[in-house]
Amino acid sequence: MSEPRPEAPSHRWYQSAIFYELYVRAFRDSNGDGHGDLRGVIEKLDYLQELGVECIWLPPIYQSPLFDDGYDISDYYVIHPDYGTEADFEQVIVEAHARGMRVITDLVLNHTSDQHPWFLESRSSRTSPKRDWYVWSDTDVRYIDTRIIFLDVETSNWTYDEATEQYYWHRFYTSQPDLNYDNPEVQDAMKAVMQYWLEKGIDGFRVDAVPYLYEREGTNCENLTETHDYSKQLRTMLDDRWPDAIMLAEANQPPADVREYFGDGDEFHMAFHFPLMPRIFMALELEEVRPILEALERTPAIPDGTGWCTFLRNHDELTLEMVTEEERQWMWSVYAPEPRMRLNLGIRRRLAPLLGGNPRRIMLANRILFSLPGSPILYYGDEIGMGDDIDLPDRHGVRTPMQWSDGLNAGFSEAHPADLYLPVINDDTFGIARVNVASQQTDSDSLFQQMKRLIALVKQHRPYLTGSVAFLNGFDPSVLAVRRTSEAGDLVALHNLSARPLAFDLPAPIGGMTPIDYPESGGRLESSRAELDPYGSLFFLRS
Ligand code: GLC
Repeated sequence: MSEPRPEAPSHRWYQSAIFYELYVRAFRDSNGDGHGDLRGVIEKLDYLQELGVECIWLPPIYQSPLFDDGYDISDYYVIHPDYGTEADFEQVIVEAHARGMRVITDLVLNHTSDQHPWFLESRSSRTSPKRDWYVWSDTDVRYIDTRIIFLDVETSNWTYDEATEQYYWHRFYTSQPDLNYDNPEVQDAMKAVMQYWLEKGIDGFRVDAVPYLYEREGTNCENLTETHDYSKQLRTMLDDRWPDAIMLAEANQPPADVREYFGDGDEFHMAFHFPLMPRIFMALELEEVRPILEALERTPAIPDGTGWCTFLRNHDELTLEMVTEEERQWMWSVYAPEPRMRLNLGIRRRLAPLLGGNPRRIMLANRILFSLPGSPILYYGDEIGMGDDIDLPDRHGVRTPMQWSDGLNAGFSEAHPADLYLPVINDDTFGIARVNVASQQTDSDSLFQQMKRLIALVKQHRPYLTGSVAFLNGFDPSVLAVRRTSEAGDLVALHNLSARPLAFDLPAPIGGMTPIDYPESGGRLESSRAELDPYGSLFFLRS
């Protein structure tokens, strides 16, 4: 059954949908080879529907040596055999649509794998017709103002290629050479990739690493005008033929720079809100709302028809690129006390361990996210409070098998445990005995059931959550008071970020509103006196 779409005709589906990032390799293995696959995703669509998911984002599922877990594509037109076939993928789309869910996939524009035939040809000789498809140079001192992103591994954005005695440019791993977008053939090749998958029925793309498409001397090679021009061309193509499909920008940049990716409403439909995410964690740790308010005060207005995508965690490290050096050191000291919990400029841990495994804090974080503007994205497994495995390298510790049950391999796979792509989490706190879908589905107090009810509540009040946002003053510094205003009326959410119970008289403007019946959020109203449990919230409405 599909959920009712929001009423306001100007409101587009992606501006308030519940998104869910699902790692195909990690979700469900249907054929017992130890790797999750697309047929496994189909098996679990009912689960996602039960949770209330409206749009699934699949990280790359294409042919790849998997050195960067699929973000190193060696053929954009072939589904990785571990994941299944093109027919399986088409079936995922059909089955998801039948359940009222949309499907977006990653579009990795900036680079390919060094195993891609384009690159093999490009590196074969300086005169290869594909030479200019990548960025080659006689020296490694061009574009020296460009930062290195995978700081823990890479020492330069250039790698020397002995065969042809030139360097090639890469913003990520050495094995991910950047495509040269100054070459019109490259521009066309990637448009063709998009068209191919749109024809198969997908609902859009999460566009990977957008800011880095072009290089120009004397700049930091990020957010260049040329990158925006090309993105607009992609948007025009979508608008002409697939007007309901979206492009979601992964641009980990300061607010003013991200703002540019919305253009005049003619570039990206959506962009991740990177600056907000770490500030939610800061606010939770400090028990003070200030960091969240500051992040939103610095958020520029965005054009009609566009929207933010908000998140707490994803498949990468919790990036701290958008905070100051001092804030980063503090975040590391509280959230990544062990050096191996850190990666590049971030923290490679999952939501539940970050919040001390405390379901009240996890639900508070989600209620905050859901009451702010934007469409929230959940990361698979966080809805049941899955843990991480910091013994695994890189970002693998947050990409372990989904924990469906306390049975063999957490119900993820029938393979021999030694054959799993990664081991299941098995520690005392977050291991499969304590954290799994099956037991949470039958326990009405579980995190899963609470998430499900929160999502249902949000959908029920969606018309109130699509308008503007304001923050109300005059509360304890631990109370985040969010007011959303739309044609439907006002919705106010009060969130207690602290470990203390709080009681206070409601100011007159809220006092006249009707509380939403949501006792498990940890808030009560006694005449005009509000009581908030530690980490509790209260919601009010006025139509
Ligand atoms: C994006 C992805 C990340 C990947 C990188 C290079 O940041 O989220 O997982 O490693 O791009 O493609």
